[in-house]
Amino acid sequence: MDKFLIEGGVPLEGEIAVSGAKNSALPAMAACLLTSEPVTLHRIPDVRDIMTMRNLLKHTGAGIEDLGGGSLRVHAAGITNPEAPYEVVKTMRASSLVLGPLVARTGTARVSMPGGCAIGARPVNLHVNALEQLGAVVDQSHGYIEARAEEGLRGTHIHFDRITVTGTEDVLMAAALAEGETVIHLAAREPEVVDLAELLNKMGARIVGAGTSTIHVHGVKRLRGAEHTIIADRIEAGTFLSAAAITGGDLLISGCVPDHVDALTAKLRQAGASISVAGPGALRVKGGRRLRSVDVTTEEFPGFATDLQAQYMAVMTQAEGISIITETIFENRFMHAQELVRMGANIRLEGRQALVAGPRKLSGSPVIASDLRASASLVLAALVASGETLIDRVYHIDRGYEKIEEKLAAAGARIRRVQSK
Ligand code: EPZ
Repeated sequence: MDKFLIEGGVPLEGEIAVSGAKNSALPAMAACLLTSEPVTLHRIPDVRDIMTMRNLLKHTGAGIEDLGGGSLRVHAAGITNPEAPYEVVKTMRASSLVLGPLVARTGTARVSMPGGCAIGARPVNLHVNALEQLGAVVDQSHGYIEARAEEGLRGTHIHFDRITVTGTEDVLMAAALAEGETVIHLAAREPEVVDLAELLNKMGARIVGAGTSTIHVHGVKRLRGAEHTIIADRIEAGTFLSAAAITGGDLLISGCVPDHVDALTAKLRQAGASISVAGPGALRVKGGRRLRSVDVTTEEFPGFATDLQAQYMAVMTQAEGISIITETIFENRFMHAQELVRMGANIRLEGRQALVAGPRKLSGSPVIASDLRASASLVLAALVASGETLIDRVYHIDRGYEKIEEKLAAAGARIRRVQSK
């Protein structure tokens, strides 16, 4: 397994360009199953989860044409096998995104239950319940979800018990081909949901209200091919904002959407970093000489993103005072805390809260990545730690960050990938 070797102590300087959003590319690729015509997608990030989704689409019978430069074309004229097998789903929960499209397009879908992951149980009950409300008959046996809707899906009012990002996306895609109108209440408002709705509307869907809590979908008989560019990855942008803050650097982060990282930007400014919009799609961030502790609670968008909580915790280890970090979305998303403590951080966990006392000098240590965003947190800590840090299992990072070591090295970080035999 590859490792990262990082020598800390260098303030990041220069420019880092943000890639396309993994969490927008994944539903967009699933949406290609909704039409028999080719769909062209640009700014697809070169990360492991995308490779997993490519394999999954091919497994169903779709063809994928590589156009180079982060562009691909999906041909889903013939779906011969509407199934997402366990071997694929167990490596990526987002595989459940093919459930809605497969049922809507072919009338049947067999998708493995995802099983838990490091950050929580990750059930898909809300996805299943919503598809049943749309008229699908769903059985769950032998670890698989089997959904059927031979006569097609029928629009209705969907009331989610709680906000779910991929649940909203699954239902959006299914409802696009349902008969009549669907109204999704308590819909997720994430930018990735808006991006998916834009792609679906380009394909001929009739969706109004994406980005708000209530989305109206007027079903259509069929969808056509389209071309679409994926939005910038706000979590990658937030990770690099945090990297500049923790190292006291001076970074220009280009190709991003400043509004999509507003909640983090506000917290880092309160903590003492200076952040300004530096032209269309660019943020200039200067890390504070002395950071101050600022509490944060994760919330669904537009609140503080749970996917930036681990990175923010690393920053708070260097801040004066005690910051209380409350995780409200997932039940087990503090795996990074123990590794940060091993590097010298002072963090106490109390249920859904982590109390971070700083500033604490971190020292380089061998650490192990546990999940995608926890790994990013360890990279940030290593960038400010004295001495060398060896991070094992960086395949977690490769799932969602495109060439992160190259981007950081270009900004002055002393980081390199150690290929294991
Ligand atoms: C999406 O996951 C993201 N993944 C996650 O990013 C992100 O952390 C999460 O949204 C929250 O923002 C993708 O978009 C591919 P949820 P998702 O359904 O949709 C519970 C990353 O790092 N829930 O919004 O799976 C669930 O357990 C990943 O890129 C149910 O109970 O998250 C959680 O507690 C990690 N039943 C809460 O809802 C369901 O059927 C929110 O989950 C579905 C979800």
